[in-house]
Amino acid sequence: MIYLDNNATTQVDPRVAEHLQGILSQRLVNPASQHAAGRRARSILEDAREGLLTLCKARTQGMQSDTSIFTSGGTESNNLAICGIAAKRPGILVVSSIEHPSVLATAQRLEQQGRAVRYLACSESGQVDIEPVADWIDRGDQIAMVSLMLANNETGVLQPVGELVRLCKPALIPVHTDAVQALGKVQIDFQALEVDAMTLTAHKLHGPVGIGALLLRHSIKLEPMFFGGFQQQSLRPGTESPFLASSFAFTAQLAVAEEDIRYARMLQCRELLESVLLSRIPGAIVLGANAPRLPHTTSISFPGLDRQLLQLALDREGIACGTGSACASGSSQPSHVLQAMNLPKQVVHGAIRLSLCWETTAEQVLDAAERITRVVHRLASNPHGLRSS
Ligand SMILES: Cc1ncc(COP(=O)(O)O)c(C=O)c1O
Repeated sequence: MIYLDNNATTQVDPRVAEHLQGILSQRLVNPASQHAAGRRARSILEDAREGLLTLCKARTQGMQSDTSIFTSGGTESNNLAICGIAAKRPGILVVSSIEHPSVLATAQRLEQQGRAVRYLACSESGQVDIEPVADWIDRGDQIAMVSLMLANNETGVLQPVGELVRLCKPALIPVHTDAVQALGKVQIDFQALEVDAMTLTAHKLHGPVGIGALLLRHSIKLEPMFFGGFQQQSLRPGTESPFLASSFAFTAQLAVAEEDIRYARMLQCRELLESVLLSRIPGAIVLGANAPRLPHTTSISFPGLDRQLLQLALDREGIACGTGSACASGSSQPSHVLQAMNLPKQVVHGAIRLSLCWETTAEQVLDAAERITRVVHRLASNPHGLRSS
């Protein structure tokens, strides 16, 4: 099997597995316990918290230190950021129309509860248009917060978060960014980006599933979503996991240390994959190709084909790929991201997502391109022919 669905989840790095096993074997206890054993667990947990903040270039010293709240993953962090910040601030919630479902569904939920929500549109190239925010600020609309992802999970297109912050900062509007797909692929600099909250998760960069974080600027106020404990300043109560937290920090440390080499490898393989597919399959289109993108993601459409049939046929040929966000897979709904890009229906319906990782080799890419080409040609000549050749 050639695994090209790394944006859904990555396989755990053996070094991370070893690290996790090492900590598990230490038989740690509850990090909130006041005895020596508890303090030992706490020190591992707090080292992980500080490590993650440092790797993301957040402030760890002084009165204005930033915070990292450990969560179960990106979905929870997004929910906490949006519900938590919005609960402290009246006004309109602004999100982009291409966010992950964990942002969009949260916004829709708040909308049902009476919150005004505005959705930022996206261009055909996959970049969100933030201009309306400037107009709304100019005319004095009260905006509670804005949420814009750093990189889109379907197209890989990088979003103008820095520019958005420059618009929002003078008006004291908090900005949250979902950096789930960006962490481990491009440099993350929490301070330089000047966002107020950032969502992260470990399993997109070869860490374990079940641990994420919400980085918070020192000044940001947040309502918790869970109740019943004092852990993590009562913002996310519940017994913390030093095992997972430490593995997350270790995963991020590997990704940052190997950032340049990983980036170069992924980009080279992605370019190879796209160039072979585009040259062999007439009519194929790479979506978002003209915008700055993450180095490992290709959203490619074969207009006229059905993406779900294509995914099934590729699976039979030993290629694992996605058709959109992992949370939406299995649903027959076409991608909300590609629809927001205003692409022709046939393009949206024929698009699959191929997401590489730094371990993907040129040989695998060439092999995958060969198999994809074969399957696309077969389906194009016989759309119902799922039979393996
Ligand atoms: C952009 C983005 N945000 C959030 C999530 C959700 O993260 P998790 O699976 O850790 O809940 C995902 C996962 O697909 C994602 O791609």
